Amino acid sequence: MAGLGSEEKVPWEIRTLKRADIREVMEIEADAFPKSAFSKEILLKYARRLGEGFAVLVAAGAVQGYILYEPDGHIYSMAVRFSQRRRGYGRALFVHASDNVKGILWLEVRSKNLGAIEFYRKMGMRVVGKVAGYYEGDDALIMLLDQKGPDQFL
Ligand SMILES: CC(C)(COP(=O)(O)OP(=O)(O)OC[C@H]1O[C@@H](n2cnc3c(N)ncnc32)[C@H](O)[C@@H]1OP(=O)(O)O)[C@@H](O)C(=O)NCCC(=O)NCCS
Repeated sequence: MAGLGSEEKVPWEIRTLKRADIREVMEIEADAFPKSAFSKEILLKYARRLGEGFAVLVAAGAVQGYILYEPDGHIYSMAVRFSQRRRGYGRALFVHASDNVKGILWLEVRSKNLGAIEFYRKMGMRVVGKVAGYYEGDDALIMLLDQKGPDQFL
């Protein structure tokens, strides 16, 4: 999958993670989730297990975001480099996953992560449940993709 960024029209592509991308994914992960970033070992385990379900968005010669998802539709995590947010890269990664899964997209998200919740709502997801105390110091909201899907926003 490929396209042009919304602001400066930077060309981007989404492809399966390569081992050499791990360092950049770790940087993005550590910045996005300072208290709970996945270690290199965990990221490599996901890469082995998920294959195409570990996708990165590359623009301007660098990894700018990633998404981890199961073929059945469970999204484990996604993040976009802080300086590159609000350019449509999160949406592109989400649409990529949505195009590639067989089942319904769903995920857990921290109930205090209001920015991500709003992003997922914009992608067409809705909150269908809550798991109290799922995270240390926070509840999880369970969100799933409504029938309309993200394409209505493209
Ligand atoms: C959530 C995240 C992946 C979104 O990535 P992004 O590239 O900035 O998202 P997009 O530019 O594609 O946003 C698409 C739309 O979603 C909405 N949106 C995105 N981020 C938002 C925010 N922080 N607050 C409110 N709405 C938001 C906007 O409507 C946006 O469109 P607009 O910019 O034209 O208004 C990114 O903010 C991120 O990495 N957050 C930290 C990690 C995280 O919380 N991941 C989710 C864990 S489950």
